[in-house]
Order: sequence, then C-alpha cells, then structure tokens
Amino acid sequence: MNNTYTDMLAKLKIGSAHPGGLALTKKIIDKIKHYPHETILDAGCGTGATIAYLAEHTDSTLIGIDQHSQMIDHAMKRLAGIENAEVILADMSTIPIEANHVNCVIAESSVSFTNILNTLNEFNRILQNNGIIYLVEMTAIKPLTDQEREAFCSFYGFDSVYTKNDWIEAIRKAEFTILEAERVAPETKGAIDLEIEPGIDPSYFKMMAEHYHLIEQLQDKLGTYIYIAQKRNNKV
Ligand SMILES: C[S@@+](CC[C@H](N)C(=O)[O-])C[C@H]1O[C@@H](n2cnc3c(N)ncnc32)[C@H](O)[C@@H]1O
Repeated sequence: MNNTYTDMLAKLKIGSAHPGGLALTKKIIDKIKHYPHETILDAGCGTGATIAYLAEHTDSTLIGIDQHSQMIDHAMKRLAGIENAEVILADMSTIPIEANHVNCVIAESSVSFTNILNTLNEFNRILQNNGIIYLVEMTAIKPLTDQEREAFCSFYGFDSVYTKNDWIEAIRKAEFTILEAERVAPETKGAIDLEIEPGIDPSYFKMMAEHYHLIEQLQDKLGTYIYIAQKRNNKV
C-alpha cells in the first residue's frame, strides 16, 4: 500500500493538521490584523478548518487551495453556505490566481511539502505590494543525523528540513522582508479534530502512530516557527 502521510490526513478528515493545531490558528487574527488581509489565500488548506475559523472572525474574502482532492471535498462540505469562502483543487506551484490579487497568504504546515523557493515565488506573484505571508512551518533547531533526516523526509515527502536561517534566506530570496520569525511554544497544542469512518484500513492508524513516534523521537531537534514577511515593492 502506497498511501502518503497526506492521504492518511485526508482519510481521517484531520482538521488543523499543523503543529499547534487550532489553538495556534486562533492566534492568526492577532497577527494578521496589523497588515492588509482583505483577500486571504490559505495555501494547502486541507479540510478547511482555518478558513472556517477566519470566516467567523473576519470579513475577508477567503480562498483555499489544496492539491488533494479528498481534502478539497472535505473543505467544501465544511464551508458549504459560507458566501465569502471558496476552495479550489490546485497545486501551489501554479496557483490559479492572477498576479497581485490577494494581500495575505496563510500556509500552515504546507510549504514544507513543496519546492519551497518555487512556492514562495508563486506567493510573491499573486500578492499585492505590501501583502504578507504567514507561514507555520517545522524547523530544525539542532542538526539531524543523516539517518534522521532521511527517515523524516521520506515519511512526510519533504525535500529537506529547513533551519530558521534556511527559511529566512528562502523568504528573502523570494523578495520578501522578514517581519517576524518566532518559535511557537512547544506546549501550544490544539485538540485533535478527526473523523473515523467504519471499516477504515488499519494501516492509516499505523501511519498515524509512526508520525507521533517520529515527532517524539525528534522533539529536541525540531520546533515550529511562525514566519511573517511582507512582499517588497521592487517587483513590477
Ligand atoms: C499537513 S497538511 C496541513 C493542512 C492544513 N493547512 C491544516 O493545517 O490543516 C498539508 C496540506 O498541504 C497540501 N499540499 C501539499 N503539497 C501541496 C501542493 N504542492 N499544492 C497544494 N497543496 C499541497 C496537502 O494536500 C495537505 O492538505
């Protein structure tokens, strides 16, 4: 069976599938209210839990994209009836949104799954000048052994595990100015939001257990960071 970690998240309908969970998402508003956020893209929106929260707490126009069709199906169900929110099946490498359209991009534990620099350049393209990116991403705080890095990257399908400096360098390379790069307190945890259908393949539970095992094993070497950065105005 060749299911991926993301297939497992989709199968179990996991909402807020990022470190810190919904508890961390709830702090987004405090952060983004200082910057433009009339039109927000949630890149790698998963089952749409963050969009649902933003719909309740902002007047923003909300767009979600995700490349996993099951995630988009779950998100559509969750967001049914919310007028200012739409979700689209799409890849972050080619976001089907015109240039200079949104002024805030939120990505919670999704950019790490992609070619990071390409994705950040794509965020820059769709953002208006002074628009911001708000990223919640796993970050290496101590060096991993080759074996640990390989096990981690192969389980999640990552190309690499970035340090804080790697993230800052990539964000700057994509023509953003760093506003914040802040470690999230390890105790920040949201309740697990999932739905288990009868007859679910037990291998998904095995994969979930492997995820927790890896995270526990590497808890001293990995941390979660919030990166907030603003698009520089020197691109036309
Ligand atoms: C760990 S989940 C996080 C989902 C959501 N942000 C949340 O916090 O619940 C990562 C999500 O990113 C999506 N994703 C990964 N690579 C992507 C890509 N290249 N384009 C669009 N979505 C992608 C996956 O399908 C998955 O839904």
